[in-house]
Amino acid sequence: MKTVLSCIQPTGEMHLGNYFGAVKNWVDLQSEYKCMYGIVDYHAITMPYDIKKLREHTWDLIMDLVAVGITPENLFIQSLVPEHAELGWIFNCFCSYGQLTRMTQFKDKSQSENVLGNDQFISAGLLGYPVLQAADILIYKADKVPVGKDQEQHLELTRNIAQRFNSTVGKEYFVLPDALYTATPKIRSTADPTRKMSKSAGRKHIINVFEEEQRIRKQIRSAVTDTGTAEEGKMSDGIDNLFELLKATKADASLIKQHEDDYYSGTIKYSDLKESVSDAIVDMLAPFKERRKELAADKRKLKDQIRASSAVIRKKAQETVNEVKDLIGLMKVKN
Ligand code: AMP
Ligand code: TRP
Repeated sequence: MKTVLSCIQPTGEMHLGNYFGAVKNWVDLQSEYKCMYGIVDYHAITMPYDIKKLREHTWDLIMDLVAVGITPENLFIQSLVPEHAELGWIFNCFCSYGQLTRMTQFKDKSQSENVLGNDQFISAGLLGYPVLQAADILIYKADKVPVGKDQEQHLELTRNIAQRFNSTVGKEYFVLPDALYTATPKIRSTADPTRKMSKSAGRKHIINVFEEEQRIRKQIRSAVTDTGTAEEGKMSDGIDNLFELLKATKADASLIKQHEDDYYSGTIKYSDLKESVSDAIVDMLAPFKERRKELAADKRKLKDQIRASSAVIRKKAQETVNEVKDLIGLMKVKN
């Protein structure tokens, strides 16, 4: 069975954009591949963050992921597998400084308000971020990495590091991983459908997966439908987004068709469409909420499970790091 690995940063609540755009795909991949999903808290400290909240965000995200269908055995927390950082250090020496400075994510993040507003402090960790990402992937010899297109450059860098390492040691030691791009719905902000649903845009632009029903309905009711930007004969971004949500939630096919027919015949009432979208979202989220409530009632149990799964996954990471150290002349720790 091929190995799939992906990771997510613990930066707050999971919204519908995260769910439909990535996490749902992770859930589905579990039936086809051996999957490993990491909560990458070492990555989270590359940008200004709240020390008091990081651990809480990590556990909250774990609970969210398990509630929507990720198997606990497939999850690990990066800082519970410190070998990622060790391999990351080694990989720093197999990656050129110039290539890192050319990463678009580094250029964007180092110029973002979040960093510049913070004394213009750009951490070296932010520059090294993709090297640590390469370690996350290669440490498990993962075959496939489900990510968005924005991570293409980081995957390319990962392969470059693997190749440089392999040619240095004269052995095809690392598997060259491939990105796994799955067509997933792109969800836009309901408050401003010209932009994508994103935490950085602000609270009114996101609908969280574990949101109160009333707030979901209110937000959909006030969704912008006409942005005045649509070309003749084309759906506006706002309407398109509502249909996208309706389809993504797997609402009843005949209901979707009815709304589409009404739209194209010009008889649609947007309030009806919005009500269907709200109903579909609320119905889809109900079992997730139920599951999360159960998980929250026994946090200790889940935390113990994740510590255990991280320990199991760590064995593989330790094996790789030991082999790598051996191959390049470093000392192995004797147990
Ligand atoms: P936990 O239930 O595992 O999140 O831990 C409960 C409390 O123990 C936390 O709120 C921390 O104050 C402390 N704690 C847990 N893990 C660590 C750690 N790795 N280093 C320092 N303090 C920790
Ligand atoms: N950089 C990824 C992102 O911003 C997160 C990430 C870290 C990751 N390590 C990874 C993704 C390893 C895939 C594999 O979304």
